[in-house]
Amino acid sequence: MAYESFHCSVCGRRVKVQSRVDMPVLDPNTGFGICKSCIKNIYHFIEEEEGNKVRSSKKGFNDLLGDLLTKNKPHVIKDYLDEFIIMQERAKKILSVAAYNHYKRMKYDMDTDNGEDEIDKSNVIILGPTGCGKTAMLSHLSKLLDIPFAVTDASSLTEAGFVGADVEVAVRNLYYAAGRDIEKTEHGIIYLDEFDKIARKSGENNSITADPGHEGVQQGLLKMLEGSFVEFTERGQRKHPEAPTIRVNTKNILFIVGGAFVGIEKIVDHRIKKDKVRMGFGSDIPSKEDTDLKYNELIHQVRPEDLMKYGIIPEIIGRLPVICTLETLDEDALLKILTEPKNAPVKQYEKLLAMDNVKLEFEEAALRQVAKMAIERKTGARSLKGIIEDVMLDVMFDIPKSDEPRRVVITEGCIKGEEQPKIFPLDEKVDEESA
Ligand SMILES: Nc1ncnc2c1ncn2[C@@H]1O[C@H](COP(=O)(O)OP(=O)(O)O)[C@@H](O)[C@H]1O
Ligand SMILES: [Mg+2]
Repeated sequence: MAYESFHCSVCGRRVKVQSRVDMPVLDPNTGFGICKSCIKNIYHFIEEEEGNKVRSSKKGFNDLLGDLLTKNKPHVIKDYLDEFIIMQERAKKILSVAAYNHYKRMKYDMDTDNGEDEIDKSNVIILGPTGCGKTAMLSHLSKLLDIPFAVTDASSLTEAGFVGADVEVAVRNLYYAAGRDIEKTEHGIIYLDEFDKIARKSGENNSITADPGHEGVQQGLLKMLEGSFVEFTERGQRKHPEAPTIRVNTKNILFIVGGAFVGIEKIVDHRIKKDKVRMGFGSDIPSKEDTDLKYNELIHQVRPEDLMKYGIIPEIIGRLPVICTLETLDEDALLKILTEPKNAPVKQYEKLLAMDNVKLEFEEAALRQVAKMAIERKTGARSLKGIIEDVMLDVMFDIPKSDEPRRVVITEGCIKGEEQPKIFPLDEKVDEESA
């Protein structure tokens, strides 16, 4: 059998083509072809180049880590959080150290690179009432560190096979936050909010069949926390065998889980009282002192066994070695939140109205009234902005009707809905008064 021969368009050699492999690229019509040996050379060239790129990007990341570590020591992180978050001193400290350690651990891992002697990851669990700064604290942290950070609502996750989002969605969200860069994704922070909502309904005494959904989600999350390869498809693509998947290793992702864990203080209280009885202090009847223990004192004493009682499986608790607790915010704290943080609501409205030539003033009693109403609503600092927004609506609607420089005063009565905000022309007399 006679074989046709062709000239390789790259090296020019004449090649007898006995099988397709002899000239893998070939167009018999034009005679254009590339021989096996040229293809091999090109392949090796590509391998070499890409390998170099991977090595140099590893080096680049190591340098970046070194930079992050020198710039963001725990006290620097805490100072930054202080600009935005009122109170929660202990929580700010814990998070600062956790973030710093997370980067130290990665640097150690890269510098030693033996895969054996590793520093354990310190995933964090944050507990505290609603609206006390859990989510806010983490989003500020991520802004400072310039690393991808994604919040996923744990209560929206379902066990694989059930209707809803699989646990992989948490990693996918981070992948998008990282601009679809897998390497960045693998070093980011995932915040699983509303984590208490996936607790087993009746805590540790639950039978296996009573609440399979939540237990399944916890099992799914456990694999991610332990460090595993997670595969997911791009957004909007259905999961099917041919859909291209993205693979992310979660080994170096810092997981922070948080939630209000409503009622956990009662579990803590109960345990403390039981311990006291066992140790011979007091009796089953709670003493006056015991009943006076307040939420803030109790929440700081949460221990792993309390979380287990609450319905988090022990394997997960074992993967969350850092317990970070936040306290309820009292009226004074709320008052500070209104005015002191860099992005305080009052400062924001002042800036907005200044753009319309208006000097905005809140009377002290007005701000205190806002704080009081927020306390009544029992949603921490969360309702502060809404309360002010209601009052400011008419002002913000009416003010831009004229360009006159003016002064607007918000009184306690305005907050209570008893009177309209007072608008004055901004003349010299006013300036003297305020000087
Ligand atoms: N301690 C705090 N200091 C400053 N602002 C706070 C504090 N706690 C809550 N806020 C503000 O209240 C709102 C809700 O807080 P968030 O962090 O979402 O609450 P949660 O603890 O429920 O996650 C945010 O706008 C946040 O800026
Ligand atoms: Mg939150």
